[in-house]
Amino acid sequence: MQRIPTGIPGFDELIEGGLPEGRSFLVSGSTGTGKTILTMQFVFEGIRKYKEPGIYVTLDERPNLLREDMLRFGWDLRKAENENQLQIIDGSVARIGMPSDEEFSISAGFDLDRLLVEVMRNARRIGAKRIVLDSIPALGFNYENENEVRKAILKISYMLERTGVTALLVTEVPEGSGQYSKYGVEEYVVDGIIVLHYASVGAQGNRTIHVRKMRATKHSEALHPLSITAKGIMVSKQERAYEEV
Ligand SMILES: Nc1ncnc2c1ncn2[C@@H]1O[C@H](COP(=O)(O)OP(=O)(O)OP(=O)(O)O)[C@@H](O)[C@H]1O
Ligand SMILES: [Mg+2]
Repeated sequence: MQRIPTGIPGFDELIEGGLPEGRSFLVSGSTGTGKTILTMQFVFEGIRKYKEPGIYVTLDERPNLLREDMLRFGWDLRKAENENQLQIIDGSVARIGMPSDEEFSISAGFDLDRLLVEVMRNARRIGAKRIVLDSIPALGFNYENENEVRKAILKISYMLERTGVTALLVTEVPEGSGQYSKYGVEEYVVDGIIVLHYASVGAQGNRTIHVRKMRATKHSEALHPLSITAKGIMVSKQERAYEEV
């Protein structure tokens, strides 16, 4: 089996060097836990370190704000886009029914099939190896019943599998809920789940990352400290972090 390194410092060694290639994984966590930063880092480091083009589908954040925020970490998304290494697909405006001035956007009413067609088309065009969908709950906006959600998620993972890309699907769950996915169905469709936590310990916020499941991988089962630095996310080994305290 081929593995693709995420490029996130400290994380790949927790999962035998990288994610099993061509599979889909869930990145789950409550608001502000770093899901967007972590998944963009996966795509951006894919381009920068491994020469693997990537697609970022943003349904939560508008592309321009995303570009601005990520520049804080020194990630020049615009440049990568101009070099056809990155494609941001804007689904954010479609949800609220507004037109987008992005080159690739889903407008005029949201439609999962159209979004997937757009993703596939762009994946072929730039030769994408990595894809992020941020986020599933943002897609589920119109879905009331669990069966619909299950079908939609199955469809997404089936389409992604056909393209052979490695995908991170972002989902949101309330901290401390003990759930890994919004609808309780996403986790059965994916090949692994990465959970981000934010806990307040005394006056200090405390971020951790946990590999909850990773098929075909002997992964760490511990909660590892995660920090957001000027260069993005870094994961430290639990043992070392405790020594440092
Ligand atoms: N430049 C930075 N340096 C340090 N920490 C930052 C920086 N930018 C953002 N953060 C931290 O990261 C958090 C946001 O991360 P991110 O947007 O990835 O979270 P998220 O899980 O995607 O949240 P949401 O549920 O709102 O989409 C901020 O609340 C802040 O705590
Ligand atoms: Mg986010």
